[in-house]
Amino acid sequence: MNTTPVSKVTTQAKETLAIIGLGYVGLPLAVEFGKQYDTIGFDIDSVRIQQLKDGLDRTREVEPELLAEATGLRFTDQLDELRTATTYIVTVPTPIDAFKTPDLSPLRGASRTVAGVLKPGDTVIYESTVYPGATEEVCVPILEEGSGLTFNLDFFVGYSPERINPGDKEHRVANILKGVARESVENKGTSKVLVLALAIVLGLMLGVFATFMAEFGSQVRQAMKKDAD
Ligand SMILES: NC(=O)c1ccc[n+]([C@@H]2O[C@H](COP(=O)([O-])OP(=O)(O)OC[C@H]3O[C@@H](n4cnc5c(N)ncnc54)[C@H](O)[C@@H]3O)[C@@H](O)[C@H]2O)c1
Repeated sequence: MNTTPVSKVTTQAKETLAIIGLGYVGLPLAVEFGKQYDTIGFDIDSVRIQQLKDGLDRTREVEPELLAEATGLRFTDQLDELRTATTYIVTVPTPIDAFKTPDLSPLRGASRTVAGVLKPGDTVIYESTVYPGATEEVCVPILEEGSGLTFNLDFFVGYSPERINPGDKEHRVANILKGVARESVENKGTSKVLVLALAIVLGLMLGVFATFMAEFGSQVRQAMKKDAD
């Protein structure tokens, strides 16, 4: 497995990255890449974009000084400004509806956005939390239909489980290891299954760990409250 930290990721000299969806997950990632690479931070929320342009992150994940360090990062809600990107990382929300069914509409919307600017040779990496198979079954068809390009021939797709723990100022995107699985023609067959399975297992482990930590934190808080009463 490649264990290269984000700060050491190499891209082609003139390559431009685009992060689609600037929430708890997307903004820290955009800032980290923006310290070294030409990076576009895209969001459909124009108020959020204006606040970020003014140096304010309302989620408080990124301090104003850190935002200022990302000199290669620019923010936009304009589709046209995404055209220069060659790698797109999708970090939009995937909430559940009243019936606890995943609501994939933001993911579909973001895929349509990327499809509108996709060019031969581009790579799209999904970082939103999705069920196994959703990337290929839901996202790839939208990318193909909207762009007129062919998956694995003209453009490539990857999956990378997110690793943000909101409020944790110690374990941040720059100092944690991150897995990215990219499907490719070479990865077809057994190795493709293994690579995707690895990403899925990684995602599940992280999900279980995050749930455990949230529950553990809540139990500790309750115990401390009881002691204080
Ligand atoms: N925050 C976490 O700690 C955490 C933990 C586990 C998993 N995740 C997963 O990571 C993904 C992102 O979560 P988050 O917490 O960053 O979400 P968020 O709600 O904080 O931010 C999402 C951003 O995406 C934008 N957006 C929505 N639709 C869009 C579109 N079509 N195009 C462009 N931008 C769009 C929203 O305006 C918002 O700014 C989700 O799948 C979530 O389940 C997050």
